[in-house]
Amino acid sequence: MVTEIAKGVYWVGVVDWNLRHFHGHELSTHRGSTYNSYLIADEKTVLVDTVWGPFKEEFLENLRQVVDPAAIDIVVANHSESDHSGALPLLMQHCPEATVVVSPRGATSFPGHYHQDWNFRVVKTGDSLDIGENKLIFVEAPMLHWPDSMFTYLTGRNILMPNDAFGQHYATAFRFNDQVDQGELYQEALKYYANILTPTSDLVLRKIDEVLALNLPVAMIAPSHGVIWRKDPLQIVTKYREWASQVPEKRAVILFDTMWHATRRMAEAVGQGLAAEGVPYKIFHMAVSDRNDVIAELLLAKAVVVGSPTINTGLLPTLAPILEDLKLLRFKNKIGAAFGSYGWSGECVKLIEKHFEACKIPVVAEGVRVKWQPTAEDLEKCQSLGRAVAQAVLRE
Ligand code: FEO
Repeated sequence: MVTEIAKGVYWVGVVDWNLRHFHGHELSTHRGSTYNSYLIADEKTVLVDTVWGPFKEEFLENLRQVVDPAAIDIVVANHSESDHSGALPLLMQHCPEATVVVSPRGATSFPGHYHQDWNFRVVKTGDSLDIGENKLIFVEAPMLHWPDSMFTYLTGRNILMPNDAFGQHYATAFRFNDQVDQGELYQEALKYYANILTPTSDLVLRKIDEVLALNLPVAMIAPSHGVIWRKDPLQIVTKYREWASQVPEKRAVILFDTMWHATRRMAEAVGQGLAAEGVPYKIFHMAVSDRNDVIAELLLAKAVVVGSPTINTGLLPTLAPILEDLKLLRFKNKIGAAFGSYGWSGECVKLIEKHFEACKIPVVAEGVRVKWQPTAEDLEKCQSLGRAVAQAVLRE
């Protein structure tokens, strides 16, 4: 349902209650998502972003509740990923003369996606556009999270529209942050940050400083997914600064897979050792756990402990995706340790430790290898491993 979020500014997006995977099947979205699009009715009629292609027809119906699409003068296209630009080709059939405002990198990414010769206007950081009573001010935000990403600020209503930044994959009945469950909201905002923005955390910190230095009043932060930050809008900026800093919490995450429960029993013994020293932990059996939820757990955990049996001289393949994430998301300030069972060749611990090295995660305790099923003495060694990791967590 179209919502007037401020005088003359309308949310005309789509709520996708049924989305369970995003980026193809790369990212789980247990609570659906929204594709937010904002219509600004000033002397010029401006649309900021569109929605994902499968929803283009209902998007146009929403838009028609406020304005004839043919009357749109300016389309601000903050980012070319198709969840925000998929409806653009249909929209542009209705307003072919509209100016499409893009960032310098958007000038290549939009034609690259749609192969259309729209009336592009390229804007850089600090450029502004008079739309009548108010102005739009643009801030490039490359790699937050694509090279073409851009923030748009509306003067007069003091609304920052930062596209993907500060978003959440969170379908809700209402449009504002003060109307939803705060636990759910922050769970989804953190999961979104951890999975999408972790590798560019340094850029996030710099961009926050850059935007705050503009001294623009911010009445609302209206991202392209999830709810609009209306109540205390800068709370999410404070949280982003915290998440981007990756100052670790004194807790551990244990990741493992197992065939005949030897490595599972080892994982639980490692956990007992952590708890004995007062360090909280969570255990995830990666063959049956949601990888994206685990990434959210990992973002601020100090320790990551990984266990696998040896199979075919390697690790169980079910661990490969999360280990790849551990490397490619470039987590900071972590420590690691390894364990695993084996029957004959037994490379598991060595391989996990080598992977930690590639992830720049220091190994803080000697790994534990157990042949066949663990004895009581073996489990005691696993508990000792947990205690050693806990002591390192508490020391740092
Ligand atoms: Fe980068 Fe929401 O798309």
